Amino acid sequence: MTSKLFTPIRLGGLELDNRIVVAPMCQYSAADGVASDWHMTHLGMLANSGVGLVVIEMTDVEPQGRITPFCLGLYSDACEAGLQRVVAHCHRIGSAKFGIQLAHAGRKGSTLPPWEGSKRLSPAEGGWEVIGPSPIAYGEGWPAPREMTETDMMRVREAFVQAAKRAVCAGIDAIELHVAHGYLLHAFLSPIANRREDAYGGSIEARMRFPMEVARAVRAAIPKEMPLGARITGSDWMEGGITADDAVVHARAFKEAGLDYVDVSSGGITADTRTPSDPGYNAPLAERVRHGAGLPTRTVGMIVTPKQAEAILAAGQADMIALGRTILDDPHWPWHAAQVLGAEARRPPQYLRAGPKLWPGAALRAG
Ligand SMILES: Cc1cc2nc3c(=O)[nH]c(=O)nc-3n(C[C@H](O)[C@H](O)[C@H](O)COP(=O)(O)O)c2cc1C
Repeated sequence: MTSKLFTPIRLGGLELDNRIVVAPMCQYSAADGVASDWHMTHLGMLANSGVGLVVIEMTDVEPQGRITPFCLGLYSDACEAGLQRVVAHCHRIGSAKFGIQLAHAGRKGSTLPPWEGSKRLSPAEGGWEVIGPSPIAYGEGWPAPREMTETDMMRVREAFVQAAKRAVCAGIDAIELHVAHGYLLHAFLSPIANRREDAYGGSIEARMRFPMEVARAVRAAIPKEMPLGARITGSDWMEGGITADDAVVHARAFKEAGLDYVDVSSGGITADTRTPSDPGYNAPLAERVRHGAGLPTRTVGMIVTPKQAEAILAAGQADMIALGRTILDDPHWPWHAAQVLGAEARRPPQYLRAGPKLWPGAALRAG
Protein backbone atom coordinates (compact mmCIF):
# COMPACT_ATOMS: atom_id res chain seq x y z
CA MET A 1 0.00 0.00 0.00
CA THR A 2 1.39 3.44 -0.93
CA SER A 3 1.62 5.93 1.90
CA LYS A 4 -0.44 9.07 1.36
CA LEU A 5 1.86 10.98 3.71
CA PHE A 6 4.79 10.31 1.40
CA THR A 7 2.96 11.15 -1.83
CA PRO A 8 4.17 14.41 -3.42
CA ILE A 9 1.81 17.38 -3.57
CA ARG A 10 1.82 20.49 -5.74
CA LEU A 11 0.94 23.92 -4.31
CA GLY A 12 0.83 26.53 -7.05
CA GLY A 13 4.09 26.09 -8.94
CA LEU A 14 5.84 24.27 -6.10
CA GLU A 15 6.17 20.51 -5.89
CA LEU A 16 6.72 19.10 -2.40
CA ASP A 17 8.39 15.69 -1.88
CA ASN A 18 5.76 14.67 0.66
CA ARG A 19 2.90 16.01 2.80
CA ILE A 20 4.82 16.53 6.02
CA VAL A 21 5.28 20.18 6.93
CA VAL A 22 7.14 21.78 9.83
CA ALA A 23 4.64 24.14 11.51
CA PRO A 24 5.78 27.74 11.98
CA MET A 25 7.39 28.07 15.41
CA CYS A 26 8.64 31.32 16.95
CA GLN A 27 12.23 31.08 18.14
CA TYR A 28 12.54 34.51 19.80
CA SER A 29 16.18 34.53 18.69
CA ALA A 30 16.44 37.47 16.28
CA ALA A 31 18.06 40.86 16.83
CA ASP A 32 15.85 43.71 15.58
CA GLY A 33 14.10 41.20 13.35
CA VAL A 34 17.33 39.82 11.84
CA ALA A 35 17.87 36.04 11.75
CA SER A 36 20.79 34.79 13.84
CA ASP A 37 23.11 31.77 13.98
CA TRP A 38 20.33 30.01 15.88
CA HIS A 39 18.18 30.20 12.74
CA MET A 40 21.05 28.80 10.64
CA THR A 41 21.31 25.83 13.00
CA HIS A 42 17.62 25.25 13.71
CA LEU A 43 16.40 25.68 10.11
CA GLY A 44 19.52 23.96 8.75
CA MET A 45 18.63 20.91 10.86
CA LEU A 46 15.05 20.95 9.58
CA ALA A 47 16.26 21.29 5.97
CA ASN A 48 17.49 17.70 6.28
CA SER A 49 14.63 16.35 8.37
CA GLY A 50 12.96 14.70 5.37
CA VAL A 51 9.88 16.98 5.40
CA GLY A 52 8.49 18.42 2.17
CA LEU A 53 8.13 21.95 3.53
CA VAL A 54 9.39 23.95 6.50
CA VAL A 55 7.33 27.03 7.32
CA ILE A 56 9.61 29.55 8.99
CA GLU A 57 8.23 31.05 12.20
CA MET A 58 5.84 34.00 12.48
CA THR A 59 7.81 36.80 10.82
CA ASP A 60 6.53 40.27 11.48
CA VAL A 61 5.91 42.86 8.83
CA GLU A 62 6.65 45.89 11.03
CA PRO A 63 8.50 46.35 14.35
CA GLN A 64 5.20 47.07 16.20
CA GLY A 65 3.87 43.82 14.76
CA ARG A 66 6.26 41.67 16.79
CA ILE A 67 5.29 39.64 19.84
CA THR A 68 8.66 40.28 21.50
CA PRO A 69 11.74 42.38 20.73
CA PHE A 70 13.40 39.07 19.67
CA CYS A 71 10.88 38.02 17.02
CA LEU A 72 11.92 37.51 13.42
CA GLY A 73 10.93 40.41 11.15
CA LEU A 74 10.99 41.30 7.49
CA TYR A 75 10.79 45.09 7.57
CA SER A 76 14.34 46.24 6.75
CA ASP A 77 17.21 45.55 4.36
CA ALA A 78 19.07 43.89 7.24
CA CYS A 79 16.11 41.54 7.88
CA GLU A 80 15.99 40.62 4.21
CA ALA A 81 19.75 39.99 4.04
CA GLY A 82 19.61 37.83 7.20
CA LEU A 83 16.75 35.75 5.79
CA GLN A 84 18.49 35.40 2.45
CA ARG A 85 21.60 34.06 4.20
CA VAL A 86 19.59 31.42 6.08
CA VAL A 87 17.43 30.35 3.13
CA ALA A 88 20.43 30.07 0.77
CA HIS A 89 22.22 27.94 3.40
CA CYS A 90 19.19 25.66 3.87
CA HIS A 91 18.66 25.21 0.13
CA ARG A 92 22.37 24.46 -0.32
CA ILE A 93 22.63 21.80 2.36
CA GLY A 94 19.16 20.23 2.53
CA SER A 95 16.18 18.91 0.59
CA ALA A 96 13.17 20.69 2.18
CA LYS A 97 11.43 23.66 0.60
CA PHE A 98 11.08 26.76 2.77
CA GLY A 99 7.96 28.86 3.29
CA ILE A 100 7.61 31.79 5.65
CA GLN A 101 4.71 32.88 7.84
CA LEU A 102 4.07 36.62 7.56
CA ALA A 103 2.30 38.15 10.52
CA HIS A 104 1.36 41.09 12.69
CA ALA A 105 0.91 40.39 16.40
CA GLY A 106 -1.68 43.14 16.93
CA ARG A 107 -2.94 43.33 20.50
CA LYS A 108 -0.81 40.32 21.59
CA GLY A 109 2.44 42.22 20.98
CA SER A 110 5.02 43.89 23.19
CA THR A 111 5.95 41.08 25.58
CA LEU A 112 9.00 39.11 26.66
CA PRO A 113 9.51 35.52 25.35
CA PRO A 114 7.57 32.66 27.00
CA TRP A 115 10.67 31.48 28.88
CA GLU A 116 10.71 34.88 30.58
CA GLY A 117 7.05 34.53 31.51
CA SER A 118 5.69 36.44 28.46
CA LYS A 119 5.79 39.51 30.70
CA ARG A 120 4.25 42.56 29.02
CA LEU A 121 6.65 45.36 28.15
CA SER A 122 5.54 48.95 28.52
CA PRO A 123 6.98 51.49 26.06
CA ALA A 124 9.30 52.64 28.91
CA GLU A 125 10.68 49.07 29.16
CA GLY A 126 11.39 48.86 25.43
CA GLY A 127 7.87 47.80 24.42
CA TRP A 128 5.48 49.61 22.10
CA GLU A 129 1.88 50.67 21.66
CA VAL A 130 -0.25 47.76 20.45
CA ILE A 131 -2.99 48.07 17.85
CA GLY A 132 -6.11 46.07 17.02
CA PRO A 133 -9.49 46.22 15.32
CA SER A 134 -11.15 47.44 18.54
CA PRO A 135 -9.89 48.74 21.89
CA ILE A 136 -10.53 45.43 23.66
CA ALA A 137 -7.70 43.91 25.69
CA TYR A 138 -6.55 40.34 25.02
CA GLY A 139 -7.07 39.49 28.67
CA GLU A 140 -7.02 40.75 32.21
CA GLY A 141 -3.91 42.86 32.86
CA TRP A 142 -3.27 43.36 29.15
CA PRO A 143 -3.46 46.87 27.68
CA ALA A 144 -6.40 47.74 25.42
CA PRO A 145 -4.98 48.15 21.91
CA ARG A 146 -5.41 51.40 20.04
CA GLU A 147 -8.24 50.99 17.53
CA MET A 148 -6.75 51.00 14.05
CA THR A 149 -7.66 53.81 11.70
CA GLU A 150 -7.92 53.32 7.94
CA THR A 151 -4.46 54.90 7.70
CA ASP A 152 -3.12 52.18 10.03
CA MET A 153 -4.79 49.54 7.88
CA MET A 154 -3.23 50.96 4.72
CA ARG A 155 0.20 50.99 6.39
CA VAL A 156 -0.08 47.42 7.67
CA ARG A 157 -1.41 46.15 4.33
CA GLU A 158 1.53 47.79 2.58
CA ALA A 159 3.90 46.31 5.18
CA PHE A 160 2.58 42.82 4.33
CA VAL A 161 3.15 43.55 0.63
CA GLN A 162 6.70 44.82 1.18
CA ALA A 163 7.56 41.87 3.44
CA ALA A 164 6.19 39.44 0.84
CA LYS A 165 8.34 41.07 -1.85
CA ARG A 166 11.36 40.86 0.45
CA ALA A 167 10.60 37.16 1.07
CA VAL A 168 10.60 36.54 -2.69
CA CYS A 169 13.93 38.38 -3.04
CA ALA A 170 15.34 36.33 -0.14
CA GLY A 171 14.66 33.10 -2.08
CA ILE A 172 11.64 31.82 -0.14
CA ASP A 173 9.59 29.05 -1.85
CA ALA A 174 6.14 29.83 -0.35
CA ILE A 175 4.37 32.49 1.69
CA GLU A 176 1.80 31.92 4.40
CA LEU A 177 -0.33 34.58 6.10
CA HIS A 178 -0.93 34.18 9.83
CA VAL A 179 -4.68 34.50 10.35
CA ALA A 180 -4.84 32.49 13.57
CA HIS A 181 -3.91 32.37 17.26
CA GLY A 182 -5.36 35.79 18.09
CA TYR A 183 -2.89 37.86 16.07
CA LEU A 184 -3.99 40.88 14.05
CA LEU A 185 -5.65 39.30 11.00
CA HIS A 186 -7.46 36.74 13.14
CA ALA A 187 -8.54 39.53 15.52
CA PHE A 188 -10.24 41.28 12.58
CA LEU A 189 -12.13 38.09 11.64
CA SER A 190 -13.32 37.25 15.15
CA PRO A 191 -16.43 38.85 16.68
CA ILE A 192 -14.69 38.46 20.06
CA ALA A 193 -11.95 40.99 19.17
CA ASN A 194 -13.62 43.00 16.39
CA ARG A 195 -16.53 45.21 17.49
CA ARG A 196 -16.01 47.87 14.84
CA GLU A 197 -19.00 49.77 13.59
CA ASP A 198 -17.45 50.89 10.30
CA ALA A 199 -17.03 48.92 7.05
CA TYR A 200 -14.48 46.62 8.76
CA GLY A 201 -16.76 45.19 11.47
CA GLY A 202 -20.23 43.82 12.06
CA SER A 203 -21.15 41.12 9.51
CA ILE A 204 -18.80 38.24 8.66
CA GLU A 205 -18.17 39.90 5.26
CA ALA A 206 -17.18 43.19 6.92
CA ARG A 207 -14.90 41.43 9.41
CA MET A 208 -13.22 39.61 6.49
CA ARG A 209 -12.66 42.84 4.60
CA PHE A 210 -9.23 43.81 5.98
CA PRO A 211 -7.69 40.29 5.97
CA MET A 212 -8.93 39.83 2.38
CA GLU A 213 -7.48 43.19 1.35
CA VAL A 214 -4.15 42.00 2.71
CA ALA A 215 -4.46 38.62 0.98
CA ARG A 216 -5.34 40.16 -2.40
CA ALA A 217 -2.57 42.75 -2.15
CA VAL A 218 0.05 40.11 -1.30
CA ARG A 219 -1.20 37.81 -4.06
CA ALA A 220 -0.86 40.63 -6.60
CA ALA A 221 2.67 41.47 -5.40
CA ILE A 222 4.30 38.04 -5.72
CA PRO A 223 4.88 35.75 -8.72
CA LYS A 224 1.78 33.88 -9.88
CA GLU A 225 3.39 30.47 -9.42
CA MET A 226 4.56 31.16 -5.85
CA PRO A 227 2.29 29.35 -3.39
CA LEU A 228 0.40 31.65 -1.06
CA GLY A 229 -1.47 30.12 1.86
CA ALA A 230 -3.05 31.14 5.14
CA ARG A 231 -3.12 29.62 8.59
CA ILE A 232 -6.72 30.11 9.64
CA THR A 233 -8.85 29.52 12.70
CA GLY A 234 -11.21 26.55 12.63
CA SER A 235 -12.76 27.57 15.95
CA ASP A 236 -12.34 30.26 18.60
CA TRP A 237 -13.57 27.66 21.11
CA MET A 238 -15.73 30.42 22.60
CA GLU A 239 -19.41 31.25 22.66
CA GLY A 240 -19.95 33.98 20.05
CA GLY A 241 -16.59 33.34 18.38
CA ILE A 242 -15.53 31.88 15.03
CA THR A 243 -17.08 28.48 14.27
CA ALA A 244 -16.15 25.81 11.73
CA ASP A 245 -18.97 27.13 9.48
CA ASP A 246 -17.36 30.60 9.57
CA ALA A 247 -13.98 29.02 8.78
CA VAL A 248 -15.48 27.51 5.63
CA VAL A 249 -16.64 30.99 4.56
CA HIS A 250 -13.18 32.42 5.32
CA ALA A 251 -11.43 29.64 3.38
CA ARG A 252 -13.72 30.12 0.36
CA ALA A 253 -12.90 33.83 0.35
CA PHE A 254 -9.16 33.10 0.57
CA LYS A 255 -9.54 30.69 -2.34
CA GLU A 256 -11.28 33.42 -4.35
CA ALA A 257 -8.45 35.79 -3.47
CA GLY A 258 -6.09 33.35 -5.22
CA LEU A 259 -4.66 31.48 -2.24
CA ASP A 260 -3.34 27.99 -2.89
CA TYR A 261 -4.01 26.35 0.48
CA VAL A 262 -5.15 26.87 4.05
CA ASP A 263 -3.83 25.42 7.27
CA VAL A 264 -6.51 24.91 9.91
CA SER A 265 -5.49 25.67 13.48
CA SER A 266 -7.62 27.08 16.31
CA GLY A 267 -7.75 28.99 19.58
CA GLY A 268 -5.85 31.93 21.01
CA ILE A 269 -8.36 34.74 20.59
CA THR A 270 -8.31 35.63 24.32
CA ALA A 271 -5.95 34.93 27.20
CA ASP A 272 -8.43 32.54 28.82
CA THR A 273 -9.41 30.50 25.73
CA ARG A 274 -9.34 26.78 26.47
CA THR A 275 -8.01 25.02 23.37
CA PRO A 276 -8.35 21.23 23.33
CA SER A 277 -5.18 19.18 23.49
CA ASP A 278 -6.34 15.72 22.49
CA PRO A 279 -4.62 13.96 19.56
CA GLY A 280 -5.44 15.55 16.20
CA TYR A 281 -7.82 18.08 17.79
CA ASN A 282 -7.93 20.32 14.70
CA ALA A 283 -8.43 17.50 12.17
CA PRO A 284 -12.27 17.52 12.30
CA LEU A 285 -12.21 21.31 11.72
CA ALA A 286 -9.83 20.86 8.79
CA GLU A 287 -12.13 18.21 7.35
CA ARG A 288 -15.06 20.65 7.43
CA VAL A 289 -12.99 23.34 5.72
CA ARG A 290 -11.50 20.95 3.15
CA HIS A 291 -14.91 19.66 2.06
CA GLY A 292 -16.68 23.02 2.38
CA ALA A 293 -14.13 25.19 0.57
CA GLY A 294 -12.43 22.67 -1.73
CA LEU A 295 -8.86 23.87 -1.54
CA PRO A 296 -5.76 21.99 -0.36
CA THR A 297 -5.92 21.89 3.42
CA ARG A 298 -3.31 21.25 6.06
CA THR A 299 -3.94 20.53 9.69
CA VAL A 300 -1.88 20.66 12.84
CA GLY A 301 -2.11 19.96 16.53
CA MET A 302 -1.06 16.92 18.58
CA ILE A 303 -0.23 14.82 15.56
CA VAL A 304 2.40 12.56 17.01
CA THR A 305 2.64 9.12 15.39
CA PRO A 306 3.15 8.20 11.71
CA LYS A 307 0.03 6.02 11.69
CA GLN A 308 -2.06 8.87 13.14
CA ALA A 309 -0.78 11.26 10.44
CA GLU A 310 -1.41 8.70 7.71
CA ALA A 311 -4.94 8.02 9.02
CA ILE A 312 -5.86 11.74 8.91
CA LEU A 313 -4.86 11.91 5.23
CA ALA A 314 -6.38 8.54 4.36
CA ALA A 315 -9.73 9.63 5.89
CA GLY A 316 -9.71 12.74 3.70
CA GLN A 317 -9.57 15.10 6.69
CA ALA A 318 -6.59 16.99 5.23
CA ASP A 319 -4.10 17.01 2.36
CA MET A 320 -1.04 17.83 4.47
CA ILE A 321 0.07 17.44 8.08
CA ALA A 322 2.02 20.02 10.04
CA LEU A 323 4.15 19.03 13.01
CA GLY A 324 5.21 21.41 15.77
CA ARG A 325 6.44 19.94 19.03
CA THR A 326 6.59 16.47 17.47
CA ILE A 327 9.41 17.50 15.16
CA LEU A 328 11.26 19.57 17.78
CA ASP A 329 11.31 16.39 19.84
CA ASP A 330 12.39 14.20 16.92
CA PRO A 331 13.82 16.21 14.01
CA HIS A 332 14.16 13.02 11.95
CA TRP A 333 10.52 12.03 12.44
CA PRO A 334 9.95 11.72 8.66
CA TRP A 335 12.79 9.18 8.38
CA HIS A 336 11.23 7.08 11.13
CA ALA A 337 7.72 7.57 9.71
CA ALA A 338 8.89 6.37 6.29
CA GLN A 339 10.21 3.21 7.89
CA VAL A 340 6.88 2.59 9.69
CA LEU A 341 4.79 3.31 6.59
CA GLY A 342 7.00 1.43 4.12
CA ALA A 343 7.97 4.59 2.24
CA GLU A 344 11.15 6.55 1.44
CA ALA A 345 12.21 9.90 2.91
CA ARG A 346 15.12 11.97 1.64
CA ARG A 347 18.30 11.76 3.73
CA PRO A 348 21.57 13.57 3.12
CA PRO A 349 24.27 11.25 1.71
CA GLN A 350 26.42 11.93 4.77
CA TYR A 351 23.82 10.11 6.91
CA LEU A 352 22.89 7.26 4.57
CA ARG A 353 24.76 4.72 6.69
CA ALA A 354 22.17 5.23 9.43
CA GLY A 355 19.28 4.32 7.09
CA PRO A 356 17.32 1.05 7.44
CA LYS A 357 18.96 -0.44 4.32
CA LEU A 358 22.50 -0.13 5.73
CA TRP A 359 22.01 -0.09 9.50
CA PRO A 360 20.41 -3.05 11.33
CA GLY A 361 19.99 -0.76 14.33
CA ALA A 362 17.12 0.98 12.52
CA ALA A 363 15.00 -2.17 12.80
CA LEU A 364 15.85 -2.51 16.50
CA ARG A 365 14.91 1.14 17.16
CA ALA A 366 11.57 0.71 15.38
CA GLY A 367 10.91 -2.26 17.69
C1 LIG B 1 7.81 26.78 20.26
C2 LIG B 1 6.53 27.05 19.51
C3 LIG B 1 6.41 28.21 18.76
C4 LIG B 1 5.26 28.45 18.00
N1 LIG B 1 5.19 29.55 17.18
C5 LIG B 1 4.19 29.63 16.26
C6 LIG B 1 4.25 30.57 15.20
O1 LIG B 1 5.24 31.29 15.02
N2 LIG B 1 3.19 30.65 14.35
C7 LIG B 1 2.12 29.81 14.47
O2 LIG B 1 1.17 29.90 13.68
N3 LIG B 1 2.06 28.87 15.45
C8 LIG B 1 3.08 28.75 16.30
N4 LIG B 1 3.09 27.73 17.23
C9 LIG B 1 2.01 26.73 17.16
C10 LIG B 1 2.46 25.55 16.28
O3 LIG B 1 2.70 25.96 14.93
C11 LIG B 1 1.40 24.42 16.27
O4 LIG B 1 0.24 24.90 15.65
C12 LIG B 1 1.08 23.94 17.68
O5 LIG B 1 2.26 23.76 18.45
C13 LIG B 1 0.29 22.63 17.65
O6 LIG B 1 1.02 21.63 16.98
P1 LIG B 1 1.88 20.50 17.78
O7 LIG B 1 0.90 19.79 18.68
O8 LIG B 1 2.42 19.60 16.68
O9 LIG B 1 2.95 21.19 18.55
C14 LIG B 1 4.19 27.51 18.02
C15 LIG B 1 4.31 26.37 18.83
C16 LIG B 1 5.47 26.11 19.54
C17 LIG B 1 5.58 24.83 20.33
